[in-house]
Amino acid sequence: MATITAPAADPWFQDRFAARIGGAQFGKGNEIYKFELIKRAKRKAMADHPERRMLDFGIGENDEMAPAAVREAMHREIDRPENRGYADNGIAAYKEAAAAFMAREFGVVLDPVSEVNHCIGSKTALSMIPAAFIDPGDVTLMTVPGYPVAGTATRWFGGTVHRLPLLPENAFFPDLDGIPADILARAKLLVLCYPNSPTGRAATRDFYSRVVEFAHRHRIVVVQDAAHIMLSYDAEPLSFLSIDGAKEVGVEVHSMSKGFHMIGWRLGWVCGHERLVRAFADVKDNCDSGQFMAIQKAAVTALADPAIPQAVRAKYRRRLEKLVAVLRQVGFDCRMPGGTYFLYTKSPVGAGERSFATAQDASQFLIHELSVSTVPWDDCGAHLRFSVTYEAADEAAEDELMAETRARLAAARLRF
Ligand SMILES: Cc1ncc(COP(=O)(O)O)c(C=O)c1O
Repeated sequence: MATITAPAADPWFQDRFAARIGGAQFGKGNEIYKFELIKRAKRKAMADHPERRMLDFGIGENDEMAPAAVREAMHREIDRPENRGYADNGIAAYKEAAAAFMAREFGVVLDPVSEVNHCIGSKTALSMIPAAFIDPGDVTLMTVPGYPVAGTATRWFGGTVHRLPLLPENAFFPDLDGIPADILARAKLLVLCYPNSPTGRAATRDFYSRVVEFAHRHRIVVVQDAAHIMLSYDAEPLSFLSIDGAKEVGVEVHSMSKGFHMIGWRLGWVCGHERLVRAFADVKDNCDSGQFMAIQKAAVTALADPAIPQAVRAKYRRRLEKLVAVLRQVGFDCRMPGGTYFLYTKSPVGAGERSFATAQDASQFLIHELSVSTVPWDDCGAHLRFSVTYEAADEAAEDELMAETRARLAAARLRF
């Protein structure tokens, strides 16, 4: 006898969820997000081809632990009773180390007391900053494709996001002159990210000078996400705050994650105009009680040693150069990015007899048929993002992985 299972009844609070997370529909959607699709495809490819190694260019996280000196500092600090309590808006030693780092690396002079505030990773800072500015009806200008967190928070506070496409024909800079006047009149924030994730574009002094002028003219506060700043290859890392007048219009959000292999430690800082930093600190004070002081003190060790970000940069530069060479050999029209550990390149339109309507299709094909994992971006033309944060024990292992990548992609006869 067939049993009929009644659909699970909704809990009594189903209509209590806020509209911003779906209201009464929360938890019922069948939409599968991009990263979940990738995960599922990887699981299937590994089950179907257990003999074939997954070549994973999809991961957006450093593949190494924090340097030994940083971990040793953590070992020491974790045993000190004075580190046990709430850190609130951050300890002086970390603020001073961040200010010293900004001066040493970028020539940016900051008052550590009033112009620097720590955050539990730049992600949380980007999610909090809109709370300090966005009222219902306000607009945040954001580049697309990009890291969406500040946009989500903007919507949660009743604001809207105006998307600024990053296109190869504009060298992956936003067209600030093309923003409609009615949008400009309501815009309060301009969120940038350079070196840009995912396009790999690095900023120039000229671009940043135009941003400063734009921000002054339209009275828009700039939030520059510098999570990838120490991974700069075109030139020395460039801080927005090193541009004349920049500190008058905005803040820069820095991270210990990418440039110091401290991705899971959750630490960063917001710096710039004193009043803007204070607004962020006020919001933050109502959201968290600061990062564990032992972690802040271990980060002081990382910030004090210029060799640490230099080594991280050299590693990912080397890996990107190898990847660019391999992808060019199999037909991709790509070149070395200006920064980040990502290579963002036009997606193939087909492979042999197969055609791909989107980058999503191409990415699914690469995973299923070749066990090569990438992240598709279809927001501004079909592109694939290859990350060089794959695991490889040494340079010989990197070369072997590259040879295997070339062999698989060549056999697929990709069309562009
Ligand atoms: C562009 C960008 N901004 C910010 C972040 C957040 O970094 P974290 O919170 O680790 O500092 C990331 C992480 O992937 C990122 O890619």
